[in-house]
Amino acid sequence: MRIGILTGGGDCPGLNAVIRAVVRRAVVQNGDEVVGFRDGWRGVLDDDALVLDVTATRGLLPRGGTVLGTSRTNPYAVDGGPERLLATLERRGIDALVPIGGEDTLGVARRLAEAGVRTVGVPKTIDNDLAATDYTFGFDTAVGVASEAIDRLHTTGDSHHRVLVVEVMGRHAGWIALHAGMSGGATVVLVPERPFDLDAVVGHCRRRFDSGYSPIVVVSEGARPAGGELVSSSGERDAFGHVRLGGVGVWLAAELEERTGREARAVVLGHIQRGGTPSPFDRVLATRFGLAAADAVHEGASGVMVALRGTDIVRVPLTEATAGLKLVPLERYTEVETFFG
Ligand code: F6P
Repeated sequence: MRIGILTGGGDCPGLNAVIRAVVRRAVVQNGDEVVGFRDGWRGVLDDDALVLDVTATRGLLPRGGTVLGTSRTNPYAVDGGPERLLATLERRGIDALVPIGGEDTLGVARRLAEAGVRTVGVPKTIDNDLAATDYTFGFDTAVGVASEAIDRLHTTGDSHHRVLVVEVMGRHAGWIALHAGMSGGATVVLVPERPFDLDAVVGHCRRRFDSGYSPIVVVSEGARPAGGELVSSSGERDAFGHVRLGGVGVWLAAELEERTGREARAVVLGHIQRGGTPSPFDRVLATRFGLAAADAVHEGASGVMVALRGTDIVRVPLTEATAGLKLVPLERYTEVETFFG
């Protein structure tokens, strides 16, 4: 059989490890062929693809980004998009698709599966907010980057007696902030799931200064003050309608400077969290997802996503995977709250 593979949405460390694993299992063990579409759904719309074999995927395991390229193209927002997708699959003789992506890419995969295209999704997002899987690859690497940044910021913050606000990624879910904040010993962690009380944040910062140390405030880009709005410095939206976030860190630092009377600076980690080589955990998870996806399509599965449950890789319906996001539950936030101030 001939399998089409693509990577969509924001890139993340481990995408290449998935591509390598799909190709290795499909070509060497299952006797299948693999075609890689460039730049997510854009490559299927435009029939822009290349044949992937073992030689073409050598050296990919530790490499960040995606050799296939990615985009946030939404074929259902393009005139005649679905028809163009089907025409490309027909022309190329593609029997099944393995889209690697988050809620948006997998939402398109679900609709295609419902239209009769054999589709097996692979979950990807550094935000770790996809339902139906315990973890997505890329998340562990992002937490490692953010955690190291917090470690470094402690020493410079303490030296200058200033507040340091660290803005991390996390559009709807605060998993990166939660894990990095807990592992880095943050003074306060602010997540999208729980609109924050600015006075309480000021109080935690003051207590931290009173103890002889300087506060580190970790804030998800999607966090907002109670009764306030999301902060977006650009106001732009992507093809799936998501506003481009970023700016809450700078805004918060200005507020904290004014209210605490101490100097405050913002550090925006941004795409540093998404770039570079994947952590060992992410390499293993991505590899296991790739192997499982290649086997699933070979065995005729469709409308499913491979997922991590405990230590097992399982298949879950794409409808379940895209039904809602996995948000930080209250009890997880309460754990980190113990250390505020
Ligand atoms: O969806 C993953 C993510 O990393 C979000 O945390 C973030 O809001 C978004 O991508 C950034 O997207 P872009 O790289 O397109 O600006």
